[in-house]
Amino acid sequence: MPACAGSLRLLADETRLRILHLLEREPLTVAELTEVLHLGQSSISGHLSKLKQAGLVHDVAEGSAHRYRMRDDAPEAIRPVWQAARQLSAQDPAIATDAAALDRHRAASGRDWVSRVAGLLHREYAPGRTWDSLAHAFAAAGRFGRCCDIGAGDGALAGLIASSSTELTCVDPSPAMIAAGRLRCTEGGLGNVRWLEASGEHLPLPDGSQDTVLLLQSLQYVEKPAAVLGECGRILASHGRLLVLTLAEHDHAESARYGHRHRGFRDADLRTWVRSWCNRPRIIRLPPEARAPRFQALVMTADKP
Ligand SMILES: C[S@@+](CC[C@H](N)C(=O)[O-])C[C@H]1O[C@@H](n2cnc3c(N)ncnc32)[C@H](O)[C@@H]1O
Repeated sequence: MPACAGSLRLLADETRLRILHLLEREPLTVAELTEVLHLGQSSISGHLSKLKQAGLVHDVAEGSAHRYRMRDDAPEAIRPVWQAARQLSAQDPAIATDAAALDRHRAASGRDWVSRVAGLLHREYAPGRTWDSLAHAFAAAGRFGRCCDIGAGDGALAGLIASSSTELTCVDPSPAMIAAGRLRCTEGGLGNVRWLEASGEHLPLPDGSQDTVLLLQSLQYVEKPAAVLGECGRILASHGRLLVLTLAEHDHAESARYGHRHRGFRDADLRTWVRSWCNRPRIIRLPPEARAPRFQALVMTADKP
């Protein structure tokens, strides 16, 4: 009985009921609730703390703020009391007024969003603006023609590449990767992909047979990178392009954990290794990764005359 009385007392408060109705619509921060309900921050925080203690809501840190949401697993002592209170209060005009105020607040902050993130867009989230979607978009814009992916792994990127290729040849020396890649492509219905078990140092492909050659985070795995880049030049057709995504030289012993044979590459070495067939390779170094030990990727493109 005391637990039930406590639950009834908790929900016999107009502000707490209004907060819960708003949180049912979407998770909100104290600042957002303050704005929508036109109440003081300390008053809102006090109510939220009681609701959290009762297990009706919980919060997740978001930068310096906390976002509150309804719990799906509210304790048995409070859940039926809230269900009854919700039903009884749902038609109250204050609830509809708050919902409309929240919609207005959302629309206004949406209008502000563009000017607020100007200059910060590189680290701001926007729905659908992920690295994954960006890679898909750029791959779709490519025209890879006859394409060979050396060190294709398990074909995680094959779908992305195949859609812009007339035919895609995935090469990898690992039987396990080849088997997984074949399965992935069959399941994905990719009809223009073939898999070859071979190493990049000895490609079983004729001279001048490829329009695009890719080495995507695989050069650091090969035994003889110079030989692989020589082979790339051999199989490329005239006006064909090599794209290498790999790591810049580094000192992080951790790379051995991933099976790397090389601790990245120096620009000068990469240039030397394609010199026999490409005059002007372009190399771009990406910013170091945010997470330790801060590996740095580099991209080299080399065009065959
Ligand atoms: C990190 S995986 C990259 C897979 C794929 N490119 C991707 O980004 O999803 C590196 C791949 O390089 C392959 N590899 C290792 N030695 C190689 C060699 N000598 N020639 C070609 N590929 C090699 C490995 O078997 C592995 O599948």
